[in-house]
Amino acid sequence: MKKIIIAIDGFSSCGKSTMAKDLAKEIGYTYIDSGAMYRAVALYCMRHHLLPDGRIDEENLRAALPAIHISFVFNPETGKPDTYLNGVNVEKEIRGMEVANLVSPVAALGFVRKTLVEKQQEMGKAKGIVMDGRDIGTVVFPAAELKIFVTASPEVRAKRRMDELIAKGEPASYEEALENIVKRDYIDSNREESPLRQAEDALVLDNSSMSIAEQKAWLLAQYDNVVKA
Ligand code: CDP
Repeated sequence: MKKIIIAIDGFSSCGKSTMAKDLAKEIGYTYIDSGAMYRAVALYCMRHHLLPDGRIDEENLRAALPAIHISFVFNPETGKPDTYLNGVNVEKEIRGMEVANLVSPVAALGFVRKTLVEKQQEMGKAKGIVMDGRDIGTVVFPAAELKIFVTASPEVRAKRRMDELIAKGEPASYEEALENIVKRDYIDSNREESPLRQAEDALVLDNSSMSIAEQKAWLLAQYDNVVKA
């Protein structure tokens, strides 16, 4: 069977990573969470005093970028790759609210995007990958054979994000989750560098009232359409 690249883009907390991970597992592909890479850079800024007065110290971040190594190691317990920052597992830290509040401004910086996009393109060279993010179908892999654009109402997404944090034993409020989602949607859609937008040839999936099983069946059908064409 031919190997393809599957690009899954969309708004925050649409369940992109769950669906991308499940699809990859089902078809024996590698799953890559591009958002985790931006989150790891945000965490690096927090830990290396690159946020004087709450602003991002762009000059020092630019100088530090070559020393920021991000990798993924599959975790059989969760069935997902864990994110490593300079050899240390930071999967838990990058999912917290503090990183969520910083990641979109960090991801709006052109020099950060350029570096991470190059890494992502390298990871996709051999094909056989499912990558999720904001610009995968438009910028990272414009020639991806299958592009999905996922959306759901902000209220549904805030509820999902809150449930996810609570399930991990982290404190979370619906209002805080909703505020973070609306704010990130705005920054992601309005930034100058590769804003979040639907690729012209992407298939739209509004999963506001879809179950995980329905969504999975839909995705598999789209995959079959492409590989069997
Ligand atoms: O999981 P969630 O939808 O909350 O977000 P994520 O995929 O972990 O991405 C976190 C943030 O990274 C997004 O809000 C974007 O600001 C940024 N991002 C991006 O700019 N480009 C990507 N390809 C992936 C994420």
